[in-house]
Amino acid sequence: MDSIIVTGNGPLSGQIPIAGAKNACLTLMPATLLSDEPLTLTNAPRLSDIRTMTALLASLGAEVSSLQDGKVLAMSSHDLTSHKADYDIVRKMRASILVLGPMLARDGQAVVSLPGGCAIGARPVDLHLRALEALGAELDLRDGYVHAKAPGGLKGGVIEFPFVSVGATENALMAATLAKGTTVIRSAAKEPEIVDLALCLRKMGAQIEGEGTDTITVQGVDRLHGATHPVVTDRIELGTYMLDPSICGGEVELLGGKRDLVGAFCNKLDEAGIEVTETGRGLSVKRREDHIKAVDVTTEPFPGFPTDLQAQMMALLATADGVSVLEEKIFENRFMHAPELMRMGAKIDVHGGTATVTGVDRLKGAPVMATDLRASVSLILAGLAAEGATTVSRVYHLDRGYEHVVRKLQGVGALIERVPGA
Ligand code: EPU
Repeated sequence: MDSIIVTGNGPLSGQIPIAGAKNACLTLMPATLLSDEPLTLTNAPRLSDIRTMTALLASLGAEVSSLQDGKVLAMSSHDLTSHKADYDIVRKMRASILVLGPMLARDGQAVVSLPGGCAIGARPVDLHLRALEALGAELDLRDGYVHAKAPGGLKGGVIEFPFVSVGATENALMAATLAKGTTVIRSAAKEPEIVDLALCLRKMGAQIEGEGTDTITVQGVDRLHGATHPVVTDRIELGTYMLDPSICGGEVELLGGKRDLVGAFCNKLDEAGIEVTETGRGLSVKRREDHIKAVDVTTEPFPGFPTDLQAQMMALLATADGVSVLEEKIFENRFMHAPELMRMGAKIDVHGGTATVTGVDRLKGAPVMATDLRASVSLILAGLAAEGATTVSRVYHLDRGYEHVVRKLQGVGALIERVPGA
């Protein structure tokens, strides 16, 4: 297995281009299953999760061509040859559950493996299933699979989520586009990835109102047609790289970055003493003073502070002046980076969903292990500011969500290299 070696090297400067969003692309790709005409996505990120979704769609009979070095995905689902999403693929990536709603809506049948547990929490899919039942789906859970049927097609209905779920909102939204009649989704997720999905579905002929608010209303149509759609900017990649100059000093411009994608995160950076400026090409980030101030952070659904930036923020706060309290409200086990940061000299106390971080002067390089995608990149950020070399192992997690991470960081002057495994 490859590892990444990063050595603290002082201030960074230059530009980093931000890719299309992994989590938007992973829901836009299954939308191809809703139509027998081609769907083309531009600004796609080059990631292993995208390759996994490509393999899943291909196993159902969709054709997916990766063009322009992977930045364009040309998809066509003229005929589906299978309606079964196999455990072997689903277990690699939970977002595979997003093929359930589209297959059911288009052909009235789908068999999808249940994803199982995950490093950051139990992550059940009960809300996805309840939403589809509200649209008239008949579900049977057996042999580790959801067997779903809608013999006369899905029918519009009222979906009332007990709390916000990004994936369940996406599945419900896609399914509702072809359901007969009107669907109302209440307590819908408002993430930019949901808005991007709604924009794409509308280009395909769907009738949707209210995306980006708590209530989304969908008027079902008989069929959807082809479209071309650019994937929205990855706000989590953006936020991650905004932390480079925050942690190391210097000034870095994130090309394609927009403040409204990371508003709550920018507010916390501001409190910590980081300046974010809109440049016309993106966002430019630098420290206002030499020191970082401690800040408290609570993760929340959008527009709150994203759980997907909590680990990276912890790496910043590890060397802040004072004590910061981070509360993780979305996933029950998302502090696995804390013990690894502690191996680098960070002072962190974790109790349940709360981590108390007491800033130290400087972190020290150490061998550390990546446990999930965002945890891995937080260790790289910590390594950029640490004294000496940090070796991050199990970097395959990183390949799921950050394209060309070594090249992008080298481009702003970081001392970082990838070392192939034995
Ligand atoms: N939940 C349920 N039942 C459900 C669905 C969710 O109890 O049926 C719970 C989850 O266990 C969690 C909470 O609801 O505690 C929110 O989960 P949500 O459904 O919103 O998350 P998701 O759709 O599975 C997406 C992203 C995650 C991101 C979360 C929250 C994708 C492919 N994944 O997951 O991204 O953390 O939303 O914003 O879009 C990542 O990229 O590193 C990542 C984990």
